[in-house]
Amino acid sequence: MITGLSLQTPSDSTQRSNAIFHTFHDLLFILDSDGIILDYKTDDESDLYVPPKKFLRRKMQDVLPPEAGKKIEDAIRKLRAGSKSVFVEYFLPTSSGNHWYESRLASLSNGQNTMLVRDITKYKQSEEKIKRHYSQLAALRSIDLAITSDLDLASTLSVILDHVRLQLNVDAASILLFEPNTEYLQFAAGTGFNTQALQHTRLRVGEEYAGRAVLEQKVIHIHNLKSRHTAFLRSPLFALEKFIAYFAIPLVAKGQVVGVLEIFHRALLESDQDWLNYMDMLAGQAAIAIDNARLFKKLQTSNQELTLAYDKTIEGWSRAINLRDKETEEHSRRVTDLTCKLAIQMGIKQPELTHICRGAILHDIGKVAIPDNILLKPGPLNDEEWVTMRRHPMIAVNLLTTIEHLAPALDIPRSHHEKWNGTGYPDKLAGEDIPLAARLFAIVDVYDALTSDRPYRPAWTQAETMKYISDQSGTHFDPHVVPAFIEMMKSQDDCQHTSCVLGGKGDRARFNFLGG
Ligand code: C2E
Ligand code: SIN
Ligand code: SIN
Ligand code: FE
Ligand code: FE
Repeated sequence: MITGLSLQTPSDSTQRSNAIFHTFHDLLFILDSDGIILDYKTDDESDLYVPPKKFLRRKMQDVLPPEAGKKIEDAIRKLRAGSKSVFVEYFLPTSSGNHWYESRLASLSNGQNTMLVRDITKYKQSEEKIKRHYSQLAALRSIDLAITSDLDLASTLSVILDHVRLQLNVDAASILLFEPNTEYLQFAAGTGFNTQALQHTRLRVGEEYAGRAVLEQKVIHIHNLKSRHTAFLRSPLFALEKFIAYFAIPLVAKGQVVGVLEIFHRALLESDQDWLNYMDMLAGQAAIAIDNARLFKKLQTSNQELTLAYDKTIEGWSRAINLRDKETEEHSRRVTDLTCKLAIQMGIKQPELTHICRGAILHDIGKVAIPDNILLKPGPLNDEEWVTMRRHPMIAVNLLTTIEHLAPALDIPRSHHEKWNGTGYPDKLAGEDIPLAARLFAIVDVYDALTSDRPYRPAWTQAETMKYISDQSGTHFDPHVVPAFIEMMKSQDDCQHTSCVLGGKGDRARFNFLGG
């Protein structure tokens, strides 16, 4: 259908225009070089922004609202300057909301212009939707990161609230935490408020909208707070915020309410399904964040308590053995330092390192059960005495297995007297059946024993001791570890000569065996 009668063009141009008219289903206008609308073609008159009698013979840029009009003005200027065609994108307000159009303006040989208009509202909407989804996903991603990397709940919640405001396009939002012990809802974080009205919020279950959201475990939505008289008794300042729309969303993690997300807007809110879904997702993230933070706090507390208890136990045990034998305290400390260094040198990492260090300090704890007359005997042990003495590793195991936390540290107390060739005690293990920790430790233990005075003999020299350890490589000791030990002792000596801070004999780096 072609309407319009005022086309004053040569016949070949008319034909060309007609051909164009029939090719497209979109809205088409013929404009003169200034933008005056000469003619138009449409399949559906209702597509028109204003009726033909209001636009024919008028400038397109004047018919359209200013913003769109200015874009057309620019396009016509470009055509006059010689451009063959120009694309413009603009929207027009209609009764059913904004409609988006893409127009292609092209110059005809007669100096007139065509303007082909395409309604791209649907495309635009889906593009908007994709963009929104994308930014929502990105937001969820960053919340995930905040949840997993930032264990400070307050800052995680404020990240979430920023996303709530931005992505849901609302004026303000807050999170109330549900305290299970007191059963109170308490303000934890907020964004977008002009007053301190809600900062001191403390509600019982069932009290006000937030309390009702918890009690009924459902979203409370108030379209217009002004029409309610019961709302927000909690603060007289609240009226100053001038909120209209309100949501209270219960935050539920593992079936338990952990808090409430409150959303406030200073105008009516149009909430489509997309918006509601996203609100749900953000609420879910907030619930996870709160749950994680609580779990973490619980773990941290119990971990701290346990660690304290364990370290106290270890201290207690070492003190018990040290009371018996002053020499042993120094011995324990030295062998622990050396064993940890050797373990590090051999590439052993946490948490094994901590277990090894704990095992080292406790290695001779079983000697608490060895009577003084054997332990402190100034001469060689007889067979019967040896039977008793050889029980000290298993005594240690019996003492320490009662402490679950020390189970991984038992290798050294149990197996430090095993020998590489299988002639040791208590289990007669051989080779790599002996736990590595015990293989390392055995070398250090014998080194320290031999270089110390014992009730039954005086100390050996360093050189004698190192020779003995070399000689015992492959017999008593793991032949793979002995070279590492010799290497380590050599570099210790070097350090002593150059008064290296960490290597100095009196001021050796103290390994924090109790730490994690
Ligand atoms: P310890 O004094 O801490 O010695 C640890 C390990 O170092 C010993 O394990 C042994 O392998 C080595 N060692 C210590 N002193 C000597 C030594 O003079 N010569 C040689 N070749 N190696 C030595 P072992 O033999 O299983 O002994 C375990 C524990 O039994 C010793 O711990 C010590 O408390 C006690 N013990 C060992 N021999 C005697 C002894 O002749 N008299 C007394 N009173 N106690 C002894
Ligand atoms: C997301 O897609 O990032 C949210 C789901 C999650 O990882 O918790
Ligand atoms: C291992 O456990 O096999 C590595 C060190 C060693 O050979 O003792
Ligand atoms: Fe021992
Ligand atoms: Fe020892």
